[in-house]
Amino acid sequence: MNKDSSGKVKFFSGEEIPLELHKVRVVQKLFLNPINQRLKAIEDAGFNTFQLNTKDVFLDMLTDSGTNAMSDNQVASMLQADDAYAGSQSFYRMEGAIREVFGTHYVLPVHQGRAAENIISQAFIKKGDVIPMNYHFTTTKAHMELNGGTIFEIYTDEALKIKSNNPFKGNIDIQKLKDLIKKYGTDCIPFIRFEASTNLIGGQPFSIANMREVCEIAKEHGIMMVMDASLIGENAYFIKQREEEFKNTSIKDILLLMFSLVDLSYFSSRKVSSTRGGGICTNRKDLFDKMRDLVTLYEGFLTYGGMSVREIEAMAVGIRETTDETVISQSPSFIAYLVNALDKLGIPVVTPAGALGCHIDCMGFLPHVPQTEYPAGALATALYIISGCRGMERGTISSVRDENGKDILADVELLRLAFPRRVFTLSQTMFTLDRLTWLFKNRNLVGGLRFVEEPAVLRFFNGRLEPTSDWPQKLVKQFKIDFGDSL
Ligand code: F0G
Repeated sequence: MNKDSSGKVKFFSGEEIPLELHKVRVVQKLFLNPINQRLKAIEDAGFNTFQLNTKDVFLDMLTDSGTNAMSDNQVASMLQADDAYAGSQSFYRMEGAIREVFGTHYVLPVHQGRAAENIISQAFIKKGDVIPMNYHFTTTKAHMELNGGTIFEIYTDEALKIKSNNPFKGNIDIQKLKDLIKKYGTDCIPFIRFEASTNLIGGQPFSIANMREVCEIAKEHGIMMVMDASLIGENAYFIKQREEEFKNTSIKDILLLMFSLVDLSYFSSRKVSSTRGGGICTNRKDLFDKMRDLVTLYEGFLTYGGMSVREIEAMAVGIRETTDETVISQSPSFIAYLVNALDKLGIPVVTPAGALGCHIDCMGFLPHVPQTEYPAGALATALYIISGCRGMERGTISSVRDENGKDILADVELLRLAFPRRVFTLSQTMFTLDRLTWLFKNRNLVGGLRFVEEPAVLRFFNGRLEPTSDWPQKLVKQFKIDFGDSL
C-alpha cells in the first residue's frame, strides 16, 4: 500500500477503494427500521425528506451542511472558548486562521452562509441589477432576487451534461460573460459570482485557468469578483488532481491563490470548516466598511456574528484543517467510489464525480415520470422507503413557479446523496450501492408526486406532497418479496 501526497491510497490489488484515514472514537447509534415503519414515516413527512425525523433515518445523506465529523482538535479547542460579547479572543483566533489560510485581512462573522448572502445582497445589489455566475444556489438566488437583482447563469455547454469527462464543469463561459457585459453594461453588474464546487450541478469545480480569465475580464471592466467559498477545500483538491499546472502545488498555496484572485469571498462554515456559522472576507477596506453595520444589525456584534464562541474556536481549527489533504480528500474519494460503481452498472449518475455528494440523474433513472411529477422527489422518496437512506431532491421541487403559476422546470433533476466528511464507512457506502441497484431494477414501480401544501418561498424545505398513485405500497410489496424479513 502506497500513499502519495494527495491523500489517495493505492492498493496492491489495483482496486480503487477509498480508505478511512482516521479512526472512530465517538459513535452515534443509527436506526435501520422495518420498511413499513419507513413508509409510515415518509407519509407523515409529506413525502419530503426534509421533514423526516432522524430517528427514522439510517444513513443521513441529506446534506454535508453542519454534519461533517469534527476532529479531536476541533472538539478540544472548544474548551478554550472566551465568552465575551465584544472582543472575544476566540474571534481573533478565528480571524488569524482566516488571514493565514485564505490570505484575507478583513473578516465579518455571520451565523451561516445565507446570512452572508443577505448582507452582500443588501450591500451591493440594487433593483434592476444583473448578476452573472457559474450557477445559482437556492438561498443565493432568493436573496439576490429579494434585493431586486436578476441572476444569469453563464455556465459552459458541458456543465449540464450528465455523462461527461470534463474535469471543470463549474467553469464560466467566457464568451457568454463578454456578451452579457456588452448587453447590460457595467453599471448594473454589481459583481460576478463564482461558486466553488458548484453545488446544484453536482458539486463540480472550476479551474484556476478559467478563474484567471474571468477575473481579468472583471478587472478590465471594473467589476467586482465575489466567490462563494463554502466548498472551497474540495474545489482546491480537484484543481490539484485535475489541472496540470497545479499537480505539485500544495492545497494551502492553491487556496491562497484562489482567494487572491477575487475581491470578496463568503462561506458557510457548516461546510468548509465542519462546524456551524459562516463568514465574509476581503482585503478591501471599502467593501468591509459597506457591510460592517449590516452585520451588527442582522447578525450580532462583529466579534461573534450570531455564532457561539465554541463554534468560532472549532471553526479556526477547521479552517486550518482545510489545507490537509488527508482530510479534504475523504469525501471526494468516497463519492468517486459510489459514482464509478453506479456508472459501471449503467445507473445514470453525474460524472465526473464531484464534491459533497453522489448525484443521481433522475430523468435517466425514471424516464417514465414526467418532470411535472418531480422525478427527483419521487426517487428520494423511493430510496428512503427501501433503504432508510435519506437524500435531497435537487430538481424542480427546488425550483419556483412562473407568474402564471406553472413550474419552472429545473435544468437537471438530481437526487443528491451527500457524503459528509468522515461520517460514513465503506460498508455503508456499499449498502447504498446495493439498494440503488435493486431500485434501478424495479424502477418501473416508482411513480410521481404532487404538491398538497406549497410555501411561496423555498418550497422544498417545508412543502408537503403526495404520490400520484399507490406506487409506494407496490414498491414495499416487491421489496418484501425480494428481501423477506430483512431490513
Ligand atoms: N452557498 C453554497 C454553495 C451552499 O452549498 C450553501 C448551503 C449556502 C451557500 C448557504 O449556506 O446553509 O450555511 O446558510 N448548502 C447546504 C446544502 C444547505 O445542503 O447544500 P448555509
